[in-house]
Amino acid sequence: MSDFRFRNTKEGYGLVAIAFHWAVAVLILGQIGLGLTMVRVADQRLAFNLIQWHKSLGLLILTLIVLRLLWRMANPRPLPLASLRRWEKAASTAVHRLLYAVFLALPLSGWVLVSASVLGIPTLVFGLFLLPHLPVGVSEAGETFWRLLHRSLAYTAIALVTVHVLAALRHHFILKDGVLRRMLRPARRTEP
Ligand code: HEM
Ligand code: HEM
Repeated sequence: MSDFRFRNTKEGYGLVAIAFHWAVAVLILGQIGLGLTMVRVADQRLAFNLIQWHKSLGLLILTLIVLRLLWRMANPRPLPLASLRRWEKAASTAVHRLLYAVFLALPLSGWVLVSASVLGIPTLVFGLFLLPHLPVGVSEAGETFWRLLHRSLAYTAIALVTVHVLAALRHHFILKDGVLRRMLRPARRTEP
């Protein structure tokens, strides 16, 4: 509808922030599932193909998160709902910042991991272009370190997303306030 706002207002998220949120949310949930599956499949060929998909999807997520942060910086920040208690405001701000930080660090650590790998496997992004390796030292010790970091960040991310989703569901079904609704319905041109 034409009275939807593209930009955020002090009261709510605009269409662009909402589209970014849900596109990234779907991709991230798929990416976590893919990551956990691909390290467990026995078939080497299938594992290789899944890892190629994982790397491509991870870079797409990294690009979207950077664009999303730029859009966020260029927009007003919607104020927390007045009904929230002080600890809820502080907790949600902290979790949102941590989500951004972890979802920047996670794909970057994956990129460093494949760059440090002694196997030197190329990354063909969605079969379209070759991703350059980052200028980091190539060694088994380095690869082991970056693998451990990528894995730890992935598990931290899973914990953060779980808390975030449970909080959203609590607001919607228990407190019955407008927190989830404003991430579904864009702010209107005619705010009260
Ligand atoms: C938001 C983006 C990403 C998420 C959520 C994510 C998540 C994961 C998860 C959950 C695993 C399995 C961890 C385990 O249980 O061992 C994994 C493994 C892996 N990821 Fe990612 N990842 C992301 C981005 C990337 C990127 C951009 C790359 C490379 C360009 C990458 C390369 C890898 C590799 C090579 C492994 C296998 C590590 C091993 O051999 O154990 N990831 N990732
Ligand atoms: C699929 C389940 C998800 C639900 C139900 C959900 C729900 C919400 C809701 C209701 C808000 C608005 C909070 C407010 O107005 O204060 C929000 C914001 C946010 N969500 Fe999610 N979310 C989900 C998945 C994710 C995932 C996977 C991420 C990972 C990056 C994420 C990152 C964020 C961030 C960073 C914000 C803050 C936006 C900003 O103000 O810049 N969400 N989410």
